[in-house]
Formats: sequence, structure tokens, C-alpha cells
Amino acid sequence: MRDALNILFTASEAVPFAKTGGLADVAGALPKALEQIGHNVVVVMPRYYSIDRSKLEHIPGPLGVPMGPMGTLWAGVFKGTLPGSDVPVYFIDYEAFYGRSGLYADENGFSYEDNDKRFIFLSKAAFELASKIDFKPDIIHSHDWHTAIQPILQKSRYAFDERFKDAATILTIHNLQHQGHFFKGAVDVMEVGWERFNPHELESMDGVNFLKGGIAAADAVTTVSRKYAREIQTPHFGFGLEEHIRAHSHKLYGILNGVDYSEWNPAKDRYIAKNYDIDDLSGKAECKRELQGRFGLPEFHDVPLVGFVGRFAEQKGIGLIAQTVERLVHLGIQFVMLGTGEKWAEGFFSDVSARYPDNFGCHVGYSEELAHKIEAGCDLFLMPSLFEPCGLNQIYSLRYGTLPVVRATGGLDDTIVNYDPATGEGNGFKFHDATADALYNTLKWAVETYRYEKDAYRTMQKRGMEARFGWEESAKAYEDIYLHAIYKKAAEKHR
Ligand code: ADP
Ligand code: GLC
Repeated sequence: MRDALNILFTASEAVPFAKTGGLADVAGALPKALEQIGHNVVVVMPRYYSIDRSKLEHIPGPLGVPMGPMGTLWAGVFKGTLPGSDVPVYFIDYEAFYGRSGLYADENGFSYEDNDKRFIFLSKAAFELASKIDFKPDIIHSHDWHTAIQPILQKSRYAFDERFKDAATILTIHNLQHQGHFFKGAVDVMEVGWERFNPHELESMDGVNFLKGGIAAADAVTTVSRKYAREIQTPHFGFGLEEHIRAHSHKLYGILNGVDYSEWNPAKDRYIAKNYDIDDLSGKAECKRELQGRFGLPEFHDVPLVGFVGRFAEQKGIGLIAQTVERLVHLGIQFVMLGTGEKWAEGFFSDVSARYPDNFGCHVGYSEELAHKIEAGCDLFLMPSLFEPCGLNQIYSLRYGTLPVVRATGGLDDTIVNYDPATGEGNGFKFHDATADALYNTLKWAVETYRYEKDAYRTMQKRGMEARFGWEESAKAYEDIYLHAIYKKAAEKHR
């Protein structure tokens, strides 16, 4: 067996402690999978207001975090573990930054103005915490813009620190749309040196761009699917960073996320009306009935029921759904949506449900329970994303025998194989153009397949339920990248 690696893993959210999206699913699962293949992982995240301190262990003594002109700020530290594992999670407790109702924005959706400081603080706190608990990382693994400056910190502020100087840095991009763009004064708070403020590193339009700087400094950059790793090198998906990413493409890799099947398994799911599995799908009909009831829809067993769960954000294709929804309900289907986000969408879809109470239901809010019920109770699951770095719901859908209807982008394209009526192959339905017509025609095709090609539908359903996108394989792919980064770094040092 290889030597165990020490991995310092910092994320702004992790299941089950705090979640706004898939990043939390990854940060709650990948460290466990890394532990299972023999590594030592320490997870660091903020102690948000919603995380109950009384259930955590208090680590005595304050943690000093240097913040440039703001001086040293002193935080508390609490400790928990990722459920079902021994992976420690250290919570950085600093009321002035994290004692708020939201993770990144207030209840009206406005980003907190001090987000630069909040996440520079988290990024540095992880280094200080490692010193405090005497953890010497071989790998510093950062996620999205929130902790993207860690690779820069390792190469500047902590470059001569024995504990960190040989660590290899990995930055995972879960979503390139959010880059952490702030006033340039943040460079002083980072304490990384103004020489890094140049168009090849931190500078962007006279401000700082955390993700850009991180991409330049990291020893390896990963994204959460192969297709997305290619897409972000093009203007359409690059959000202005495509050239920068192309310049660093020699160290860019795509690794598909796994799924935590201990949470997402219809045979054991605690939230659904009746458990079921591949050998006996009768429980799924029960789940459908219950779901129809929850949304006040008539409980017809043979009406195609389509589901959507996700953030109401442009990324998720909610604009396309809004343009098509009236035509869709006229297909004689039922459609249920769960999500929160853009206010226009919350209002728009609630209004549609008032007008078509027998065909359309919308629940505005965040509900783990309802998300599981939708996966289990629906016949088809819609994800018309404009871009999708990985996407998790289509993978959950496969496991629940709910055929995905997706736009062919990013991880959706990598995981879903289009139905081929000639051969019967496939596990779902895909369209390419980001247009209302393409969505409509493909969903119509899926509905017709459900109605009139029952055998083909069943075969695909079973194929999807059998497939596994476990974390073990992904964890091994990360391990390869960690080892490669360490090797490359050592080779450079001796050059
Ligand atoms: P993203 O991270 O871009 O939001 P993903 O598909 O990777 O997209 O992950 C989204 C995760 O958040 C999934 O686990 C999904 O079930 C969950 N989720 C999103 N919105 C809601 C909601 N309103 N209620 C419950 N779960 C939700
Ligand atoms: C992001 C992406 C999503 C991905 C998730 C976890 O939020 O939008 O596609 O699955 O991160 O990596």
C-alpha cells in the first residue's frame, strides 16, 4: 500500500452541516472516500450561525488569523466528524463573519459586502488550524473561489513555513460562474504580495479575482466532469477566464463527482412513501401517489409525472422551462418543481401552479425530504441546464429509476446516454440546443416513450438503477492527481 497522504480540505459548505448546492455534497462525501482508501483528511469550514455548537467539541484556545491591515483576528474552533466516518471537521467560529442567516447572501439574495474578507479569513484559518493541531499536509485541496487563494498563500505567505512549504496544492472548480471578484485592496488582507497583482495572476479589470489567482498558482486544477474541463476553455463557458484556463490547461483535469448511495438509495431511503429496488418497482407507484398528493395533483397512476429540483438560477435552465411550461402542461402531463432562488422564477412558477392545479405543482423552498420524494415519485426528471459542471440530480434520478431528460452539457453529457430507438441503448433523453423548442420536443419524445414504448422505458429504467457512480473511483482519480502533483513539485525543487 502507498503511504497515507495528509490532506487539508477546506470548503465553504459541507453536508450535513451547511448546504446551498452540490459543493456541500462533494465536501461531505469525498473526504470520507479518501479516508476509505487510506488517507488522513482534515476538513475545515466556517461555523455558520445555523450550525449548532452544542453538538460539537470545543477546541480550547483561540485561533489567531492574520488579516493584514485588519491585524490578527481571533476565532474559536469547534470539532465534529463527517457522519459514518472518522474524518474530523474543524469549524472556524467567528461571529462577525459567519453569524448570519445566509452562507453568502442575505435573504433577499444580496451577497454580503465583506465576502472577500470572510473567505480570505477561512482560507488562512485553515493554515493556522493545521499548525494548531500539528497537522502537516502533503496536499492542500481548495474548492471554488471561496478558498481559491490557498494555493497563492502556500506559495507566498506560508512559503517558508516548514509545515507547508512542500505541500502540493489542488484547486477544484465546481462552478466557474462565481469567481470571487473584489476591490483590489483585498490583496493587502491576503498578504500575498502586490507582485501577484498582475493580469496573469490575481488582477482582473483593476480588481482581484480569487479564482483566477488560484488557477495560476495551484499545482493542479480539477473540474467536476471531463466535458466541463473542455467547455471552460471556450468563450461560451469560460466566463471571461477561458484564455487564462487555456494557458494552464496542462494541469487541468476532469473528475466526475460520485454519489453518496448511503443517502440516495430507493431501497433504504427514509424519506419516501415506500422503499423499492430493481427487482420490485411496486413501491415506486406508491411514491408517485404520495407525491401527487403532496402537490395536490390528481392521483392518476398512468399520467407521466416530470420533476425538477434545483436552484432557481439561469444556469439551471429555468428560463427555458418558463418559456415552455404552458406547452408542456398541454401534453397532458404532471410536472412538479422544487427550488428557491431568483424571485421572478419563484413568483412565475407559483403562478403557473395556481392556473394549472391539476397539472403543475411548485414548492418554493429548500426541502431535503421533498427532493427525495420527487426523485422517487417521478417518471422523468428534467435538467435543461445552460451549463452544468457535474450535476448530481441526474445521477440520483438514474438510481431511482426516474429517467433524466437533460441538455447535453458538462456532467449531464458525460453521464447521460441518449435513448436510441434503433438499438434500445441509452439511459435518458438529451438535447443540444438551449432553446425552448429543443426542450419541448425532447420532453415530448420522453413522454411518448413512457406512454407507448413501455418495454424500452423499463429497460432503460433498470439500466439506470444498476449503474453506479460511486465515490471510490473518483477518490482514486484524485489520489492519482495528488501523487502526480507531489511528484512534479519534488522534481521542480531538485531541478
Ligand atoms: P448545484 O450545486 O449547481 O446547485 P448540483 O446538481 O450539483 O447543482 O447539486 C444540487 C444539490 O442540491 C442536489 O443534492 C439537490 O438535490 C440539492 N437541492 C437543490 N435545490 C434544492 C431544494 N430546493 N431542496 C432540496 N434540495 C435541493
Ligand atoms: C456546482 C455545479 C454542479 C456540481 C456541483 C458539485 O455547484 O453547479 O454542477 O455538481 O458544483 O461539484
